[in-house]
Amino acid sequence: MSGTKTTETATTEAWWRQAVVYQVYPRSFADGNGDGIGDLAGILARLDHLVALGIDAVWLSPFYPSALVDGGYDVDDYMDVDPRIGTLDELDRLVAALHAHGIRVLVDLVPNHSSDRHEKFRAAVAAGPGSPERDLYVFRDGRGEHGELPPAEWSSLMGDPAWTQVPDGQWYLHLFTKEQPDWNWANPAVHAYFRDVLRFWGDRGVDGFRVDVANGLTKRLEADLPTQQELDTPGTFPVGDHPLFDRDDVQDVYREWRAVFDEYDPPLMAVAEAWVTPDRRLRYTASGGLDQAFGFDLLRGTWDSAVFRRIIEESYALAERAGVPATWVFSNHDVVRHATRYGLVGGGDENDWLLSRGAHPAEDRDLGLRRARAATMLALALPGSAYLYQGEELGLPEVMVPDEQRQDPVFWRKGGKEIGRDGCRVPLPWTKDGSSFGFGSGGAHLPQPDWFRHYAVDLQEQDPASTLHLYRRALALRRRLQADARLDWLELGDGVVAFRRPGGWCSVTNFGTAPVALPRATVLLASDVRGLHDGSLGPDTTVWLDLDGPAGTTQEA
Ligand code: GLC
Ligand code: CA
Repeated sequence: MSGTKTTETATTEAWWRQAVVYQVYPRSFADGNGDGIGDLAGILARLDHLVALGIDAVWLSPFYPSALVDGGYDVDDYMDVDPRIGTLDELDRLVAALHAHGIRVLVDLVPNHSSDRHEKFRAAVAAGPGSPERDLYVFRDGRGEHGELPPAEWSSLMGDPAWTQVPDGQWYLHLFTKEQPDWNWANPAVHAYFRDVLRFWGDRGVDGFRVDVANGLTKRLEADLPTQQELDTPGTFPVGDHPLFDRDDVQDVYREWRAVFDEYDPPLMAVAEAWVTPDRRLRYTASGGLDQAFGFDLLRGTWDSAVFRRIIEESYALAERAGVPATWVFSNHDVVRHATRYGLVGGGDENDWLLSRGAHPAEDRDLGLRRARAATMLALALPGSAYLYQGEELGLPEVMVPDEQRQDPVFWRKGGKEIGRDGCRVPLPWTKDGSSFGFGSGGAHLPQPDWFRHYAVDLQEQDPASTLHLYRRALALRRRLQADARLDWLELGDGVVAFRRPGGWCSVTNFGTAPVALPRATVLLASDVRGLHDGSLGPDTTVWLDLDGPAGTTQEA
């Protein structure tokens, strides 16, 4: 907790190096006041769930005042709480309550863009061209005789054009929706403002940040802007000098933040969301700035032993180079839940599945869940930090939200060419009965399907074989077994990924279709006990063994 330890340093034994961080998407976690939208009171009321899971930290997705054009990633005010979600006072109480249970808190920092309702953007529009206010954002004159054409024909990542005109004729840049204007990181005043934001949260006692679109921020916009095709074609610009993304000079921002982080004891931590190649990812942690960067490679990989093995080897090697253990992620609020991804059979991927509204590839829910449980146990045994997304501890599949009820601007602004991310943001089922399955007393802001009841927390509490109990056991064991961030491969045959951690902790995953023989050892936990037979491990199952313990085949509870 902030200020309680004096010897912790960022390089030796910092708490986050091998932590389990659980992502709460506040609007969909639990609704305390029955208006259909999750809130801080709801999280406080469900604190027991977080404590019982055995996580080290919670990452709170945005709770800031917002028009919710992009699920709260359009921030009106970085230093406040949306009244629909709660108050700063409640946030303080939530942080204190989590801290009292030894759980750290990360808040979501969105530095690439604000919302168009942010007071500084309003001021920028009001103050007019050439004003210091306007220079906080990326404004330009248009092309054409009267500036009636945008500075460039770029499209945003959300489908709409990337430049939008204001009444006086100038245009502003937004990599996401037009309601998310990009900050001008060439302006020192923007740097100063964000240092204030960091300190605002640091002083409030939070433990760190998840940095949204960390590969954005700095830009190089010269008089002549490149075309969209030039932007999109690899090799047009030297690596690290793309006009918009993953620029080398973004690390200067993070080095500056590091100085702020280090004002706190222990230092604040920060994890980067940067959708970049693994070798580029290294820069976000090895340049004296941020501490971690999400490793999205497993999240993008298929259920295949060779794929897992390659990704783990690569990430492990990079982690060694960075001097920072790797991070592992399967699910978050932006992707199809992994229990669904791993259950898609018969060719095609999750995008095909979304576009066909669930028709093909077919979804085999049992298979998906079995593999998701096996995958999660594998990752929890790896050195480094694991990031979990709310609902995965229930084995929740993705929901096929009806088109007309979708909220994600990606769906609406791309004219249905992309389906968007609502299906992983459906409010959680807490009870098998009752209004919105215990989410709240007043319905849910995204529709919960009837089958959600089968995944309810109260049902899973009573079932020792449930995914919820598996997560709790795995996290408790991991806490006990976690040692140096080292891994030694074990070769147990084709289709098997097996490794040993210091102290004899060993994880074996069978990706194949036939059972594989296990070494003689104590069984600590299996992702599915049905996969364990007379010293062999069935398909799509992970088992943790204690290689240094007495041989035996009973599972520890
Ligand atoms: C990040 C967020 C995503 C959001 C985008 C723009 O990728 O995870 O949800 O839409 O940034 O802020
Ligand atoms: Ca509410």
